[in-house]
Amino acid sequence: MGEGLKLPVINGMGKTNRIDNWISQPLAMGLALIAAMIYTTWRLFFYANSISYSLEGSTVTSPIFSPNILEWNLFNLNQWNHPDWVNAAILILWVPFGFRGTCYYMRRVYYRSFFQSPTACWVDEPQINKSIGYHGEKRLFILNNLHRYFLYAAMIILVIKWWDVTHTLKFDTGWGFSIGTFVMLIEAFLLTMYVTSCHALRHLSGGILDRWTKGVSALRGTLFKKLSVLNRSHGFWFWTSLAFVFIGDLWTLAVAERYIDDVAIILVGS
Ligand code: FES
Repeated sequence: MGEGLKLPVINGMGKTNRIDNWISQPLAMGLALIAAMIYTTWRLFFYANSISYSLEGSTVTSPIFSPNILEWNLFNLNQWNHPDWVNAAILILWVPFGFRGTCYYMRRVYYRSFFQSPTACWVDEPQINKSIGYHGEKRLFILNNLHRYFLYAAMIILVIKWWDVTHTLKFDTGWGFSIGTFVMLIEAFLLTMYVTSCHALRHLSGGILDRWTKGVSALRGTLFKKLSVLNRSHGFWFWTSLAFVFIGDLWTLAVAERYIDDVAIILVGS
């Protein structure tokens, strides 16, 4: 009794007995996140006039720049003599960055891909990780505890995303849809799945309670079980919703710069 089972882990960063391709997933995820950060940074400062396009009276907005709070002129923002490089994304991106950056799934990804802590199960980590050790979510990582509040902000953004979809349905000559409608619809759907599969939302819905008996607590228990089903695929929704932000932006950019054309299909004339 009391003697632990010693696993045959080989000492040395990246050393392992595993014979499968264990490095491919953390490597691909790390590269994808780096590409996402580079693209977003580039997009914030280039093609500033192509963050949305109008099609016969309807408006399609790039997911990176939606919601376009400068367009709303909230708190007289447009009266504010801001520099030319300040755009909607620069003002609003702290919400998706904060939400994704503190996501429980995202923590797993960056601990594996960037910190090698560890890169994969049964793979040894760098000596520096062993010297520092794991002290919980402290110092800069204490910000991870804000995830619940970023969730609230993301839910507001999500409602606006769906509202933005409706802006693609009204044309000068009636109601219908365009390819841009589907681009924004798919983006709003994927983001909805990402938000509703969130661990924190699941906890708030019913996980926080000791028991689900009757009345509201029973309802919250049912909701918890339903969200738990979605939660199993949280990683899938993380990546698909992230990828579609960039697909949607590339579509908007290509149409706004007139590389390709969108088409309006009018279903009900006005
Ligand atoms: Fe991933 Fe909340 S845990 S978004």
